[in-house]
Amino acid sequence: QRTAVVTGSGRGIGKATVELLQAHGVNVIGVDLAGADINADLSTLEGREALEAGVRERCPAGIDVIVANAGVLTDDELSIQVNYFGAVETLERLRPMLRSDAPRVVVVASRSVLKPVDHAIVEACLDGDEARAVALAQQTGSPHLLYATGKRAIARWIRRNAGLPAWAGAGIALNGVAPGAVLTPMIAQRDPAEQARLAVERPMPLGGMATAEEVAALIDFLADAKNSKIAGQLIFIDGGGETLMGQEDI
Ligand code: NAI
Repeated sequence: QRTAVVTGSGRGIGKATVELLQAHGVNVIGVDLAGADINADLSTLEGREALEAGVRERCPAGIDVIVANAGVLTDDELSIQVNYFGAVETLERLRPMLRSDAPRVVVVASRSVLKPVDHAIVEACLDGDEARAVALAQQTGSPHLLYATGKRAIARWIRRNAGLPAWAGAGIALNGVAPGAVLTPMIAQRDPAEQARLAVERPMPLGGMATAEEVAALIDFLADAKNSKIAGQLIFIDGGGETLMGQEDI
């Protein structure tokens, strides 16, 4: 039986992923702020240590899958601390525990990676300098860029690392998914005017907004042993919207 660790397991895309993996016979360890198998705030050192210790304790024989999904949509430094450093720390701390015939890792990024970002913060992230990244985020005059900035940074981290000896060279398929608009509590809990603004900002040509289950189906495939060759990719799951965002010349 395969064992997966899923962060942000309590609701939305994380919850749908847990349910689909379980339906396919995977043993899942859920991680969230509260009410999960492992309760941990991944914006903090204590939370990241609790994640590592909790998985080590529960899975002495190792794990097969990591899904780094936990994220927030905020205009403050949390979008850097959770969406970038929380995800990277999840991957780096749990990678040594991937003792599996078919280790698979999926990071939930966002189509927002294509939006304008704060490049100085992206560089601080990729330098692994959380204090500098957070200080820059707290001082920025453009807080509305912070979500896209954290997501761009994690997408670049995936692209930089996936082919290296520690990942693909060790048999680990590391990929990202980049959803457009997904109807989860992250969106549904906002007031109707902001939801309407997000819908305009995030076109989803193929059938409108995605469900959490539709995104979970892609994560489930990438996490499965049958995904034996896709690595280092950022897969847009956004109904074709990405093709409308000026990236047609690949
Ligand atoms: P959600 O807000 O419904 O669920 C996120 C989960 O992560 C929650 O259970 C929350 O408690 C957990 N979480 C938040 N901060 C945490 C922390 N510091 N430590 C541990 N757990 C934490 O959001 P949703 O929509 O399911 O988002 C999941 C991922 O998908 C996020 O990374 C998000 O950025 C990404 N995404 C979502 C899109 C959308 O339209 N809903 C679009 C593109 C990407």
